[in-house]
Amino acid sequence: MLARVETIALEGIAARPVEVEVDASVGMPGLHIVGLPEGAVREAKDRVTAAVGNAGIRLPKRRVTVNLAPADLPKAGSAYDLPIALGLLVALGKLPAEGLKGRLFLGELALDGRIKPVPGVLPAAILARRSGFRELIIPAENGLEASLAPGIAVVTPATLTDLVWHLLGERPLAPLAEADWRQWLDGERPSGGDLADVKGQEHAKRALEIVAAGGHNLLMSGPPGSGKTMLARCLPGILPHLSLDESLEVTAVHSVAGKLPSGRPLVGSRPFRAPHHTASHVALIGGGSFPRPGEVSLAHRGILFLDEIPEFGRTALEVLREPLESGDVVISRAARSIRFPARFQLVAACNPCPCGHQGDPSRVCRCSPVQVSRYRSRLSGPLLDRIDLHVEVPPVPSEVLVGLPKGESSGSVRGRVEGARERQGLRQGPGLLNANLDGGDLAAHAGLSVEGRELMLEAGRRLGFSARTHHRVIRVARTVADLAGSEVIDTDHLAEAVQFRVGGRFQ
Ligand SMILES: Nc1ncnc2c1ncn2[C@@H]1O[C@H](COP(=O)(O)OP(=O)(O)OP(=O)(O)O)[C@@H](O)[C@H]1O
Ligand SMILES: [Mg+2]
Ligand SMILES: [Zn+2]
Repeated sequence: MLARVETIALEGIAARPVEVEVDASVGMPGLHIVGLPEGAVREAKDRVTAAVGNAGIRLPKRRVTVNLAPADLPKAGSAYDLPIALGLLVALGKLPAEGLKGRLFLGELALDGRIKPVPGVLPAAILARRSGFRELIIPAENGLEASLAPGIAVVTPATLTDLVWHLLGERPLAPLAEADWRQWLDGERPSGGDLADVKGQEHAKRALEIVAAGGHNLLMSGPPGSGKTMLARCLPGILPHLSLDESLEVTAVHSVAGKLPSGRPLVGSRPFRAPHHTASHVALIGGGSFPRPGEVSLAHRGILFLDEIPEFGRTALEVLREPLESGDVVISRAARSIRFPARFQLVAACNPCPCGHQGDPSRVCRCSPVQVSRYRSRLSGPLLDRIDLHVEVPPVPSEVLVGLPKGESSGSVRGRVEGARERQGLRQGPGLLNANLDGGDLAAHAGLSVEGRELMLEAGRRLGFSARTHHRVIRVARTVADLAGSEVIDTDHLAEAVQFRVGGRFQ
């Protein structure tokens, strides 16, 4: 007989319904999987036969065909083990078909029949609820994650045998109690540091506040040990808290990537991702045969920190431009393309020169002008154009550091950031931050006074601004004005913005 089991395939961060059809017929014994299975799915055969055998179920010698439909949707990963095993049991008459009705299954099988965790349970739970399934059956370790999509009964059997008893109705398992996700959302402190612990560096701290308020990208340059990494790590703590919707979005990305920490199913604070410069292209952007989100997507709604940015490969930096513009990445594979969200803020750090000491009064830089310009030219113009603020972070001698008082706390800076974001929302509509204003939007929301226009003309003449530079300065000035609670961009706001444009050494 033909058995049908409902499961899912992941496409980007969304789950699509998939039906596993299993047919057992007389013929050469064996198990064949068709319907665009990849890698781990093909190995399901071995895991399923072992798990079923170890559950004490004897399989008659039949020719078994497993079809994953629709055939044009690629199926990857090990989560098909469980639906395939159940389809097999029904097809061979070991389990009545009614047991499968209205239930959605996913899970990997260990050879001994234990049900092991899989990625993408949150998207599956969202689909199960929307499509009116009565029960979602998933691995126990993914239980909390599924509880983020309330309104669907979630059952988490430990083994295939437990599940069979449940489906037979003989030893039913109780659905999980609904978890209160608020416990993971509220008050989760970002893991970075607190600005209060960064002494001095007022200029860089001011840059961070502007970056947080307007959603801008930032480049910091300075010698080793000047505090660039420390400053970057403070940024999540001065950004507004994630809303529940944002948090679910971020969680879905991390779920599909298989990167949710156990016991903490909801990503409740802004991500801070700091990939090393040797990270592969796929690790950064995403991809692979089972397309997984890369660092740019794991940083969605948070920070992508690229330390020593000139060391990243040129191609890696070039591909960053797309998500920086559009807020998502498109991964093309064979006939289809998959979209992952990637709306992050870029914070980059670099040394002023290959040895790191140019401009440091206490050290001697031995780099030749050619070496310095070669180092700096690794950052292309179009990438630099997406970075609105460039700031130099000078070294602070340790004896000076010791004497400096504690600074303002991240929480207090965040208060101003939230105020500035509220102004932007009221003026530009929800979700449109100053960093994303271009052309027409700038004209509509960031008009200059007569004095302002004169100042920009003068600065442009002296500093040789391109049209793009001009836009960047105005975007930053818009944020400075918002932080000051001013609807009008006045000359002080512009002057500060110009300074952040010409401050760094990478132009
Ligand atoms: N302004 C500061 N206030 C307090 N501590 C500081 C400050 N600057 C640096 N430090 C201390 O120095 C250490 C090194 O700073 P950090 O790693 O941020 O420097 P960096 O600029 O990122 O250096 P590199 O270029 O080598 O990556 C920090 O862990 C911190 O303990
Ligand atoms: Mg560092
Ligand atoms: Zn040098």
